[in-house]
Amino acid sequence: MTGEIITLQIGQCGNQVGKQFWSQLIKEHGISRDGQSLSTNESDTVEEDDPTIFFKQNDSNRYTPRALLFDLEPSAIADVQNSFPGLFNERNVWVSKDELGAGNAWSKGYDHGLENQEEFINMVDKEIDATESFEGFQLLHSVAGGTGSGLGSNFLEALSDRYHKKIITTYSVFPSSESEVVIQPYNTILTLRRLIEHSDASVVFDNKALLNLATRVFRDRNTSYEQTNQLIASVLSSITNSLRFPSYMYNSLPSIFSTLVPTADLHFLVPSFTPFTSDFIPGVRDFKKSSAYDVILDLFDKSNSMVLRNNDTPVYLSIYNSILGPTDQADITRAILKSQQRIKFPPWSSSALHVNVGKKSAYNVTPDSDKVSGMMLANTTSVNALLQTACSSFDVLFKRGAFLHMYQDGKMFQNGAEEFIESREVVQSCINEYYAAEQETFMDDVLMEEENIVGNGGMLDADGDDII
Ligand code: GTP
Repeated sequence: MTGEIITLQIGQCGNQVGKQFWSQLIKEHGISRDGQSLSTNESDTVEEDDPTIFFKQNDSNRYTPRALLFDLEPSAIADVQNSFPGLFNERNVWVSKDELGAGNAWSKGYDHGLENQEEFINMVDKEIDATESFEGFQLLHSVAGGTGSGLGSNFLEALSDRYHKKIITTYSVFPSSESEVVIQPYNTILTLRRLIEHSDASVVFDNKALLNLATRVFRDRNTSYEQTNQLIASVLSSITNSLRFPSYMYNSLPSIFSTLVPTADLHFLVPSFTPFTSDFIPGVRDFKKSSAYDVILDLFDKSNSMVLRNNDTPVYLSIYNSILGPTDQADITRAILKSQQRIKFPPWSSSALHVNVGKKSAYNVTPDSDKVSGMMLANTTSVNALLQTACSSFDVLFKRGAFLHMYQDGKMFQNGAEEFIESREVVQSCINEYYAAEQETFMDDVLMEEENIVGNGGMLDADGDDII
């Protein structure tokens, strides 16, 4: 059985993305906005979909999201609650009493996390008590503001410390390069360190790519967060399709993410999606009808990626696709073979494309229910463009010592700027590892390192015993 997943929404972005995610999920599982099941026949639900991965079901056939909502100011959460009256468990909502927000400073968000950690962990524990076979967390946040980044960072540390056997995934939104707030590069680097050290997989989005995509998909130059968040929610819904409509493949978080993450640090995953149909975005008409073959190949097009890339020929370490709609296995096989000829894998990789053919919801019937759409999660070295942009923007500020006073009262900054320097180093070493992963000897080097730890550098015989 697929285990339950708890969603944590932190800060404005996290809660606004969450709003679109739950809006999509209730459509797919036949649940009204206040949590009532719309299913007339209970056996319908049991056979096709399993809402209980993401929702608690109570006696009167009502569903409550397994979600915890946090913010330092009330407006984003109030909007979520007003949009779904009575859907969320009131006890799973936490808003800071001073309601002041983190003023975009990571240190303020982090310190609020420290001060309230016991209460937060209690809330998480209570939610876990309501599961049968708890599998892991997904955290929704932005890396750039003060709350999603700072409080989110502290939360990640606490979760990985307390529940280290559970899988922790993040859906992390990066600022566009013309970011609105000058200290965002500091927040981003401090958060990236926690993503590297404390999450098992981070699906990354960049707002610049999302805005470009939204302009095209909605045919509207004045894009809104609501629109970008619908794009993100389409990805989230597709990644979790094989968990919520379970079959015998990819029906747990580890079975998806272990195919994608070759070493602990290389866990940044770039999503692509095409085409956006009205199964995901009501009323959208962005596409021509295509086959699974076209969709799988189109997913490699950089205009469909949710992270900007500098390179036209990225190196792919691993790939997972979720395809929805009427498909023909021969079409998929042909597309896999064609992709393998076209794209670059490092010599040590298996060059496998993992493809799940997901199920469409019987509740979410739209004019596009007979159309194919696809989502790709790629572990690619082109993510270095995102990481490097974050570092360069950080370096410009940090070299001048600009705005450091905004952090000096924070508990992590009592030794001055050390935390900044260390975080920057951790991010650099992840960038270096992505470059190293393009080399033929990469896996040998990784195995050597592991042997050094396990066998103290000793040689192993054919049975795997130390040679003395
Ligand atoms: P404070 O406002 O400092 O308390 O922190 P916060 O975490 O609530 O801030 P927020 O989530 O607003 O983070 C700011 C960053 O997130 C900026 O880069 C924004 O462009 C981006 N952002 C904010 N809301 C959204 C959203 O709904 N969708 C997307 N895609 N980006 C968002």
